[in-house]
Amino acid sequence: MPRVHTPALSHYFGVQQSVGTIRIHPHGERLGPMMPGSISADVQAYLFLFISFSVYFFFCLFHAFRGMSCFHDKRKDMSAAPTPMKTPKRIEPLIQDGLVDEVIRQLTSGKEATVYVVRCKEEIRCAKVYKEANKRSFRQSVDYTEGRKVKNSRRARAMEKGTRYGRKSQEEAWQNAEVDALYRLAAAGVRVPKPYNFHEGVLVMELVTDNAGNAAPRLNDLVLKAELSREYHHTLIMQVVRMLCAGIIHGDLSEYNVLVDSTGPVIIDLPQAINAAANNQACKMLLRDVNNLTTYFSRFAPELLTKNYGMEIWSLYQNNQLYPESVLTGCFERIENPIDMNSVMREINDTLKEEEARQLYRSLRSK
Ligand SMILES: Nc1ncnc2c1ncn2[C@@H]1O[C@H](COP(=O)(O)OP(=O)(O)OP(=O)(O)O)[C@@H](O)[C@H]1O
Ligand SMILES: [Mg+2]
Repeated sequence: MPRVHTPALSHYFGVQQSVGTIRIHPHGERLGPMMPGSISADVQAYLFLFISFSVYFFFCLFHAFRGMSCFHDKRKDMSAAPTPMKTPKRIEPLIQDGLVDEVIRQLTSGKEATVYVVRCKEEIRCAKVYKEANKRSFRQSVDYTEGRKVKNSRRARAMEKGTRYGRKSQEEAWQNAEVDALYRLAAAGVRVPKPYNFHEGVLVMELVTDNAGNAAPRLNDLVLKAELSREYHHTLIMQVVRMLCAGIIHGDLSEYNVLVDSTGPVIIDLPQAINAAANNQACKMLLRDVNNLTTYFSRFAPELLTKNYGMEIWSLYQNNQLYPESVLTGCFERIENPIDMNSVMREINDTLKEEEARQLYRSLRSK
């Protein structure tokens, strides 16, 4: 029997009906009987549609799974951003010098710096781009910079006078302070991001991440149970001790400058770090750092407010008795010796006599 011609896909895209062996066109036209064992054109059409939809369905399913966080490592995801970000001007020199391969995204823009997630070969790191001095906040004050050594005396004089060269040098010194502090603290066993490069005012360092590979949250972003709060407080107080044993006080330590990764707190943001031995504000800054931590953690564990770790740490430091392993009690009693009134009176009388003699001498000279 000859095969019946059908208008197949080109006509209504295969929307024909088969009734028994007699096939009827939707418009009612009889098309003739079917060949037993042969695949009719309408079955072909349905098959074609079925296969097309299946392919499309699996294609969509595949992409949906790719987009779901639980199906892949987010660290890789950060590097595989669909459209690479335009390289910020300040990072261009690092790309040219091969220190950074790609800028993935901006992480934050703070008071002092803008932080980017970058790719360096296989690794995801972060790049901290310092803002220019006139766009920054107040922190580059003498309170912080006091006692910082400047090896080059010409540079030191220019910095004092505030010449253009001096201001540029001051700017570099400020940025270098964070890099120096990061290297010194990492060597002293303080948990800080690992620094990799500092080039053209950009610091490339370890990106602190959470379990999923995303940038780690700040301490301030967490709600803690009392027990964990006490644990983190203790960890950070011991980190402050370790820092001071290395001769450094953070100077701006608070819940905003601590990140929390899977191993616990990580201290960041150190351009204002203070040289403890050479800065007259050192005690004040240390007490403020410790106080900030205690105030924050006492929200979850109020009993911490009764402790005075700051003064205990400072008095041990002053007496050369502070070590990274020092066991602290959180108790500090100021030992006040009774005042010797006789010696005070002697001091006052001597000063009065000196003043009388000075006045007598002046009046004799003027005659
Ligand atoms: N190594 C890092 N890993 C992950 N995130 C980081 C890292 N360094 C900085 N960040 C993120 O960038 C933010 C700003 O960094 P940082 O505190 O060093 O700069 P800043 O300009 O002083 O900011 P702020 O004014 O908010 O204190 C941090 O709060 C943190 O979220
Ligand atoms: Mg900060």
